[in-house]
Amino acid sequence: MRLDVLTIFPEMFKGFLSQSIIKRAQEKGLVEILLHDLRQYTSDKHGTVDDYPYGGGPGMILKPEPVFRAVESVQSQAPRGMVILLTPQGEQYHHRMAMSLSGEKRMLLICGRYKGLDERIRTLADREISIGDYVLTGGELPAMVIIDSVVRQVPGVLGDQESAWSDSFFGGILDAPQFTRPGVFRGLRVPEVLLSGDHGQIRIWRKKEALRRTLQRRPEILKIISLTEEDERLIAQIQEENRGSESAGG
Ligand code: ADE
Repeated sequence: MRLDVLTIFPEMFKGFLSQSIIKRAQEKGLVEILLHDLRQYTSDKHGTVDDYPYGGGPGMILKPEPVFRAVESVQSQAPRGMVILLTPQGEQYHHRMAMSLSGEKRMLLICGRYKGLDERIRTLADREISIGDYVLTGGELPAMVIIDSVVRQVPGVLGDQESAWSDSFFGGILDAPQFTRPGVFRGLRVPEVLLSGDHGQIRIWRKKEALRRTLQRRPEILKIISLTEEDERLIAQIQEENRGSESAGG
């Protein structure tokens, strides 16, 4: 996979790209990530990327010319990649989108900035993505969120253990509680089953607790993912337990 990023702050990406899984993915040749400084595509000596809005109003607007020039330059090399514009007005990002984007050969992420961008820049984008209902200073952090979540899904990026873990425990639901040593910490005990060495029981326990947590915290997720018969059975058990504790409490 090749990822191109168009930004006026390439330095913001340096730490992120040189650490951990993203670093390894590049070293293994599984992803290539190229940063493009928007200022290099300006035509004046000051590298002007923004201008006042027509009609007046506060703030500066990202100019169309350097963005078009940069996108056309990056896209002139085949194969043309999917163009994604990061903006709070885009479709809301989620894990399923990360999984589907991980199948792309190339993507170009455009980081918006300032108060806004010239509307004509939107015509360059195949998709507009927002990472959540809050306004950030620019599209750089959202671009990093997308890169991180997509690159993790590229086959071979995670080690066998990590990917087996995320296959079985992030089939779209929240993760089960996790524990490490010590077995008792400030009076809080690790659940007995995790110490039992019985891998069949541990798998079921984790699945059930992941479902319980999802049911408690993000019940809407369970309505949109496909559940196995085992999931349905465990959910029924959890609901039965909840009814039991409600009637015991009341
Ligand atoms: N740019 C500013 N805020 C954003 C957000 N929430 N998502 C994507 N891009 C943004």
